[in-house]
Amino acid sequence: MKLWAGRFSKEADKKTNDFNSSIATDSRMFREDIDGSIAHASMLGKQGIISAEDCEKIVSELEKIKQELIDGTMTIDPDAEDIHTFIESTLTQRIGDAGKRLHTGRSRNDQVALDIRLTLRGECEKLTAQLNELLCVLDKKSKEYPNVVMPGYTHMQRAQPITFATHLLAYTEMFKRDLDRLEDAKKRMNISPLGSGALAGTGYPIDRAATASALGFDGYSKSTLDGVSDRDFCIELACVLSIIMVHLSRFCEELILWCSWEFKFVELDDAFSTGSSIMPQKKNPDIAELVRGKSGRVFGDLIGLLTVMKGLPLAYNKDMQEDKDAIFDAFDTVKMCLTAFIPMIDTMTVLPANMRKAAAGGFINATDCADYLVGKGLAFRDAYKATGEIVALCIQKGLTLETLPLEEYKKICELFDEGIYTAISLENCVKRRGL
Ligand code: ARG
Repeated sequence: MKLWAGRFSKEADKKTNDFNSSIATDSRMFREDIDGSIAHASMLGKQGIISAEDCEKIVSELEKIKQELIDGTMTIDPDAEDIHTFIESTLTQRIGDAGKRLHTGRSRNDQVALDIRLTLRGECEKLTAQLNELLCVLDKKSKEYPNVVMPGYTHMQRAQPITFATHLLAYTEMFKRDLDRLEDAKKRMNISPLGSGALAGTGYPIDRAATASALGFDGYSKSTLDGVSDRDFCIELACVLSIIMVHLSRFCEELILWCSWEFKFVELDDAFSTGSSIMPQKKNPDIAELVRGKSGRVFGDLIGLLTVMKGLPLAYNKDMQEDKDAIFDAFDTVKMCLTAFIPMIDTMTVLPANMRKAAAGGFINATDCADYLVGKGLAFRDAYKATGEIVALCIQKGLTLETLPLEEYKKICELFDEGIYTAISLENCVKRRGL
């Protein structure tokens, strides 16, 4: 029977009931829903809004229900409208009248806003742990392959020599910013909406500060309308998750290139690669491709959330039920991607000789050649021009800056001497820059 059976004369249409139900998605919030109800009931008891005896009954039965759900000795009814209704009706079936008092001064609107916040707080914790693990793996990998010279690129053209560790440092910085963003978004999320009621609060002498602090919030919402209808925190988190996916996707794009025979800078472990059903020689970077592909899915979740919220009048509207599918999917996807990505990086083999070889072609020390002439007193623009001519000469002769004889250098600029070869050695180029 529905909560609103008094007002209605007919049962809900079966198919419409399924359409209206959110149980498939919000079941995962059962712990948080029960924790919220325990905090609410305890506060009602303390404030004398319900009797101490009823409060005791509610709290201890809710604890039991929670344990049974965790152990799997009780299952959630898939036909229930949502997790809030299911828990409340189970409670009432078991303890009778006391159970009917739980919802005093509360609405499912503040209840669901609370449950999502509590659930996402847990999700943020798991994600933070994964990102920290990734940072450790990146650090470990940099130390495993120190002083490995590789080409740095701009426009996918060899640009200047860098080291593998320098390349990884760029990703370390990205993921550190992601952690910062996550912390920052958490601050704004950690405000309790409980006590907002359906939209206009309640006339009961509830203690909002008490429930907020019992549930580990930093405060409670000042506006009850905003309390029930704010989903900024879902949008912000989806945005943070999208940026994480941008970073993972860029990293994967590079790994995919680096695994190709054209680059062969790295080799992924067999456990994180796949073969082909027809081409026996293939070893494909499917995991990296899939992570790159999943980024689209997380961006979709963000756009979905923005679109659901953009036209909603105050306060709660059922459209908002769509929030959970989107934000949970975004979290689940990012967690899944990291679960595969972290060990893939951890186990990959770096091929320093191939990186070094690629760095030796493509004149990536041309800037250093120009800087050498600047050191000899030439203005940078002139040094740049002379080096350009030297590069053109090398290309014409099929040589590199390292193999061009000194007489040829001197023909273009008198200032060159033997020191040029030390100045343009790739190892010196990266050392000079502190890479
Ligand atoms: N399942 C609903 C949601 O996720 C819970 C709140 C229902 N409130 C209501 N007034 N129908 O948003």
